[in-house]
Amino acid sequence: MADPGAASFLTRANALLRKNLTYQKRNIGTNVRLIMIPFFLCLFLLAIQIVFDALINNADDNRCGCQCIVTNQNGNCINKTCGIEYSSSDQAFFCPISSPPRWPPLLQVPPPESRAVNSTFLPDIGLPNESCRRTGTCPVTILFTGNNRSLGASLYGNLLPSSVTVNISDNSEHLLQSLAYNVLGTETEPELTNYLDPGIASNLSIYNIQSGCSPNDTFPFSFGQDRLKFQKELRCTQGLNLWRNNSKEVNDVIFKGYRKGNPEGKTNEIGAAYDLLNTDRNNFNVHIWYNSTYREGSDDRPSTLLRVPGLVNLVSNAYLHFLQGPGTKILFEYVKEVPKLESRLRLDIASLIGPLFFTWVILLLFPVILSSLVYEKQERLRIIMKMHGLGDGPYWMISYAYFLSISVLYFVCLMIFGSAIGLKFFRINDYSIQFTFYFLYVNLQIALCFLLSSIFSKVKTSTVASYIYVFAAGLVGSFLLQFLIEDSSFSRGWIIVLELLPPFSLYRGLYEFGEYAFQGNLSGTDGMKWKDFSESAMDEVFIIIIVEWFLALIAAYYIDKIVSSGKDPLFFLKSSFKKSPSLRRPSLQRQGFKVVVEMEKPDVTQEIEKVEQLMLEQSTSHAIICDNLKKVYPSRDGNPPKLAVRGISLAVPSGECFGMLGPNGAGKTSFINMMTGLLKPTSGTGLVRGLDICNDMDKVYTSMGVCPQHDLLWETLTGREHLLFYGRLKNLKGSNLIQAVEESLKSVNLFHGGVADKPAGKYSGGMKRRLSVAISLIGNPKVVYMDEPSTGLDPASRNNLWTVIKRAKQNTAIILTTHSMEEAEFLCDRLGIFVDGSLQCIGNPKELKGRYGGSYVFTMTTSSENEGDVEKLIQDVSPNAKKIYHIAGTQKFELPKEEVRISEVFQAVEKAKSSFTVFAWGLADTTLEDVFIKVARTGQAFNVFS
Ligand SMILES: *[C@@H]1O[C@H](CO)[C@@H](O)[C@H](O)[C@H]1NC(C)=O
Ligand SMILES: *[C@@H]1O[C@H](CO)[C@@H](O)[C@H](O)[C@H]1NC(C)=O
Ligand SMILES: *[C@@H]1O[C@H](CO)[C@@H](O)[C@H](O)[C@H]1NC(C)=O
Ligand SMILES: *[C@@H]1O[C@H](CO)[C@@H](O)[C@H](O)[C@H]1NC(C)=O
Repeated sequence: MADPGAASFLTRANALLRKNLTYQKRNIGTNVRLIMIPFFLCLFLLAIQIVFDALINNADDNRCGCQCIVTNQNGNCINKTCGIEYSSSDQAFFCPISSPPRWPPLLQVPPPESRAVNSTFLPDIGLPNESCRRTGTCPVTILFTGNNRSLGASLYGNLLPSSVTVNISDNSEHLLQSLAYNVLGTETEPELTNYLDPGIASNLSIYNIQSGCSPNDTFPFSFGQDRLKFQKELRCTQGLNLWRNNSKEVNDVIFKGYRKGNPEGKTNEIGAAYDLLNTDRNNFNVHIWYNSTYREGSDDRPSTLLRVPGLVNLVSNAYLHFLQGPGTKILFEYVKEVPKLESRLRLDIASLIGPLFFTWVILLLFPVILSSLVYEKQERLRIIMKMHGLGDGPYWMISYAYFLSISVLYFVCLMIFGSAIGLKFFRINDYSIQFTFYFLYVNLQIALCFLLSSIFSKVKTSTVASYIYVFAAGLVGSFLLQFLIEDSSFSRGWIIVLELLPPFSLYRGLYEFGEYAFQGNLSGTDGMKWKDFSESAMDEVFIIIIVEWFLALIAAYYIDKIVSSGKDPLFFLKSSFKKSPSLRRPSLQRQGFKVVVEMEKPDVTQEIEKVEQLMLEQSTSHAIICDNLKKVYPSRDGNPPKLAVRGISLAVPSGECFGMLGPNGAGKTSFINMMTGLLKPTSGTGLVRGLDICNDMDKVYTSMGVCPQHDLLWETLTGREHLLFYGRLKNLKGSNLIQAVEESLKSVNLFHGGVADKPAGKYSGGMKRRLSVAISLIGNPKVVYMDEPSTGLDPASRNNLWTVIKRAKQNTAIILTTHSMEEAEFLCDRLGIFVDGSLQCIGNPKELKGRYGGSYVFTMTTSSENEGDVEKLIQDVSPNAKKIYHIAGTQKFELPKEEVRISEVFQAVEKAKSSFTVFAWGLADTTLEDVFIKVARTGQAFNVFS
């Protein structure tokens, strides 16, 4: 098959995208559940809103009052009539009123028992004696002060009428007019509106404030018509006008009379006070004191009306009287509200609790994305993809785009569900602001996941930590942040500091949406629009999110570079100095060592010379060249630095399979990790098809295949999907790809019986192994590393696998590690025995056996008394024999080939059999295993002393 060449960025991105889509298709259940979460939360909010509507918004108290006119036999109402006349003063607020009633203006008067009297705490000569409290006849005190006492005296003399003047036969219109000649007061507190004045509508009597009263001076009358008709009674109350020398004294009386201001616990309230200032015939300037405590306006309750206009009218009439005589009067006849439509109580509770819920909804993506990233890291899938040519660029781009589309889909679902079921939170705020806000935030969230995924190495910890983060952030947001936002004394600067924490900026944005939705719904207007943008603190939230998103991306990129490619934390500073020319230096500084090696290991020395020659020629004829590759692990926990690889020089041409044998811990895996770019060599370098593994690893990866020691597969993807993905990474396309995948499946015996289409998680260990090998070979890579490819395979599969590898070898350089001598002998053209960090010998299996196997191995088992006889027998046959093994009657000897003739051995054994019992015996030529054991032993000994 033709070499497809390196895959382009788009091809690789496409491969990853298709793989991710298949992966998600497998996880469709999880995804549907994820998308259902917003749906259920919206339904939950809807349910809360419905209950709230039934209990509060539509409660009888919160709508216009009604009365039943027709009832059936069961006593149920069939027909009812509603209106202000059937309403309490709370209900009147909601009634439709086309023509509002007129109410006489009333003054606010303290109730008789709290009117100011002369007491020990408030000794005041002008005030009445305390005894009036018992009879309930205490006067309403009105204080005066000003610059001109004589003018003041004439003014307050004119203030109050001396008797009641009402024409009882008048109809309502004239009644109001005649009532206007009197000064009326009430002790009932006013409401939010004056559609139904509680002073008239309550059954308390109305005070007629006069300058003097005779006992039980009351005057009954009726007010209004039809159902709004009230039987009232004007009750005479004396008004007491007192002069004080200056406003400070007036203040003093008012202050001491205040309910909490006096230690006797009694209130001494005055009705009102006037400061006439510099009033004379040409100027009329007045200050008026009035009590507004009952007004009690606050954030959540609008303030009630104040009964102040009457006070102004009163003093104006007194002044007119002073100027023009008794005939002139401004009549203040009535007060009346504007007409209005019926209204409802519309509290949108869902908008108030929405921010907490929607914070959770949006944050819930965080654990999902994070664990998916950490999973690929934990299972080392990211690395294996990288080794097969998936660069960081496509990986980042596709992962980002992929998580972004999931997130967008998720919050768009949230907005659609929410709007569809009628949540005001979504409905009345501008959709474009909402979309932009969620869009920016999910971007920030994905960038944060990338950043944090480098901290976590276990999916479990990351999942637990991120769920805690989600719930804590929502709760702290709604209990602390919201409290602080609503506390107007808390500084805005600190709130912005808090919003720097991403979940809080999310919370703040949702909170603003909620507030605007709530207010808009209450007043029947729209929610947030772009014009409200800066007023609503949304601008700062947007800026914070955008800036943090940007920073998080940079930080994530930076950390990923350090972690994934093992670069120096300051790589961007050093990059300009880094290219030191000594990188390809001829390796001369090891000459002292070379002398020793030359004598011991001519084959290794020869390889070193070959590598040096190749390096000088800059030849690319060999697919893999390692030039004195070393790896030293720095000292840790007080242990000395560990030399894992002590300098390997090796050249493997294309078409060769090089087998690496060696005991566990010899450094084979470190060597492979360096060649595959997982580890950075401490010194020395490797060239793969002329490309340096220190600098051009990304290019090397495009023509490399790796079969790692542990299978790195996606549990839910099938074997075929794995091969399709890696095939695409190797730039196979269309029918070539299909064909290559099929061939590959067949060759590793995974094609038949539907195995190829089962998820890899269900494969047996051997099947996974074969799939891993198939993956490493797909797309005809030029260089393949296999770390113990046949471990765990049954003999049949193993033979099958060997055939595959042997076939693949034709135009590929393969480096293979194994513990099976049989495999090494079968597959490898050359072998290197790797002991304690360095190669002890290199050669093809036959040569090695010849070189190290210069002896036969003789084994004999007898009873233990006869062991001495056996030794003697061997001594006779071969004086230089060595005993290499001895246990319970069984002994093994090595007989140098040059002193032994096989026939002699047989004769000696036959002779021995007649003199003592031989249970078993054998003579064998050396095997590769013997070579291995021997080399490994001498190598270790050598390195210990060197
Ligand atoms: C005080 O008012 C009276 C009555 O208007 C006037 O006659 C008198 O001149 C005023 N006194 C002063 C000091 O302005
Ligand atoms: C009372 O009202 C009636 C009808 O408006 C009128 O004729 C009569 O003169 C009034 N009486 C007084 C004392 O104003
Ligand atoms: C007010 O001033 C007058 C004269 O200036 C004085 O006699 C009187 O005691 C003062 N009243 C008070 C309550 O201080
Ligand atoms: C103002 O009115 C409130 C409520 O009616 C009353 O408790 C308080 O004592 C009054 N304050 C003064 C200074 O009269």
